[in-house]
Amino acid sequence: MKRIVITGGTGFLGISLAKFLREKGFQPILLARHKPDLDFAFVQWDGVNLGDWCQVLEGAAAIVNLAGRSVDCIKTPDHCDEILRSRVDSTKVIGEALKLAKNPPKVWVQMSTAHIYGDSVSQVCDENSSTGYGLAPFVGKAWEKTFLATLPENTRGVRLRTSFVIGRNGGALTSLKRITNLGLGGKVGNGKQGMSWIHEFDLNNLIYEAITNERYDGFFVASAPSPVSNNEFMKQLRGRMKFFIGLSLPLFMIKSWNQIHF
Ligand SMILES: NC(=O)c1ccc[n+]([C@@H]2O[C@H](COP(=O)([O-])OP(=O)(O)OC[C@H]3O[C@@H](n4cnc5c(N)ncnc54)[C@H](OP(=O)(O)O)[C@@H]3O)[C@@H](O)[C@H]2O)c1
Repeated sequence: MKRIVITGGTGFLGISLAKFLREKGFQPILLARHKPDLDFAFVQWDGVNLGDWCQVLEGAAAIVNLAGRSVDCIKTPDHCDEILRSRVDSTKVIGEALKLAKNPPKVWVQMSTAHIYGDSVSQVCDENSSTGYGLAPFVGKAWEKTFLATLPENTRGVRLRTSFVIGRNGGALTSLKRITNLGLGGKVGNGKQGMSWIHEFDLNNLIYEAITNERYDGFFVASAPSPVSNNEFMKQLRGRMKFFIGLSLPLFMIKSWNQIHF
């Protein structure tokens, strides 16, 4: 069975991808600093230094690098530093490990961010757009620069500039759903800013294509083609929540009534 190494594979996207790849007949191997309670092969690393973990690369079909400190936090200087360093250091050490491997994977799929294009309110960005201004473009550029500098000559490299990933079991949607449930799911500012998004299933398919289709080389914007305004996105989310709250209330009442009378 072909092995796929997923660094930073124990988070929201890694677990989703691992399940997807297993269904496609691959053996995913997750690398992270903390061992999760999951039914997948796991190898520990520190995301900075070469070590025993490098053995896992020998004979693997591909590596997918998703490692990075969550950006879902208050942007203190310490957090910003960690957001940057965790991505740059992990990418750098993967490149070093690949260069030392005798039989390294043929392809390296590297996570990047669509936020590299910044926060333009009116411009729809594509592959030809210039990169933007701010923390995310700064981190995105450093991340990609490290990848390009460290990618071994004979390894096919695919960067995915990925937008907001919508999925059931994690990511920013979970936080947005939580605050929307509390009645706080309003728009941010004037709500006109665009929100680019991609469903986890489409992202998994894209990564699968990047692994298996040799024509994938270079960088790609991993996003659905139709961004919506923040106002529209939150409106849709509020609509769904109202539906579920409306549905769950009568069920709750039936359950309570049963408890009282039987
Ligand atoms: N979710 C999205 O909407 C989205 C969109 C665009 C790009 N991305 C990028 O895709 C990647 C995965 O996203 P995700 O949503 O799956 O994130 P996540 O759930 O926070 O998972 C992050 C993964 O990285 C590891 N990690 C955390 N801090 C680290 C550090 N300091 N050094 C090395 N590894 C570290 C975590 O495991 P350990 O802490 O155990 O090491 C975990 O395996 C991230 O790089 C993220 O920026 C995500």
